[in-house]
Amino acid sequence: MSANATDKNSASRLRLAVLGSGNGSNMQAILEAISNGSLAAEITCVISDVADAGILARAKAASIPQHYISAEPFRTKLDGEAEKQYLNVLNDYDTELIVLAGFMRIIKAGMLRAFQHRIINIHPSLLPAFPGLHAWRQALDYGTKITGCTVHFVDEGTDTGPIIIQRHVPVLDDDTIESLHARIQQQEHIAYPEALRLISENKLRVKNRRVLINNS
Ligand code: GRF
Repeated sequence: MSANATDKNSASRLRLAVLGSGNGSNMQAILEAISNGSLAAEITCVISDVADAGILARAKAASIPQHYISAEPFRTKLDGEAEKQYLNVLNDYDTELIVLAGFMRIIKAGMLRAFQHRIINIHPSLLPAFPGLHAWRQALDYGTKITGCTVHFVDEGTDTGPIIIQRHVPVLDDDTIESLHARIQQQEHIAYPEALRLISENKLRVKNRRVLINNS
C-alpha cells in the first residue's frame, strides 16, 4: 500500500475519543469492530475521571493513549476547570466525536457547545424508561418484561437526547441484577458499534427529536 493510500484511509476514519469511568467493555467492543473492519473509525484517546478504571487498563493494553483527569470538586458533573482540561485534551486529538461509555458524569453546557451534536452515549434501558443510575435494577424493581439499551445523542438533560438505536432484552423470571445487566451489555456491544458505523457513514439525519436513518 502506498503512503498516500495510508494517509487517505486514516483521513477518512472518524476520530473518536472515548470517555468512561468503569470497566470499558463497550470501548472494547468498538475496538473490535474497528479491527474486524466493520467500523471505519479510530479511537484516538481514552479519558477517565477514575484513576484505576478498567477502561484505562484496556486502552493501555491496546496501545491507545490514556488520560486520567480528575473531575473534582464535582461529584456528578463535568464542569469548571475540569471541563476545560477535558476539552484541551479532546482538541489535542482533533476529536470529531465524543463517545461516552460508562462515563458517570453529566455533561454540561461548555462541552455541549464545543461538540454540538457530536457527543453520544449508551444507556442500559429502553429510554425514556429508566433514565439515570442502575437502569437494570429499575427495570427489575418495576417488573417490566422487556428492557434493553439505547444509543443516543447527548443534550443538556439526563439520558434525554435524540435516540439513534435501541435493542431490546427480555426480562426473565429468574433474572438477578447481574444476569440482566450482563444480557443488556451483550446487546450494548452490538448497538454501539452499529450506531458509530451509521455516523461514520454519514447515514443519520436529526429532525427535531427523531433520528432518521438513510440505509440506501
Ligand atoms: C454500560 O452498561 C452503559 O450502558 C452504562 O455504563 C455501562 C458501562 O459499561 N452507561 P462498560 O464500562 O462499557 O463495560
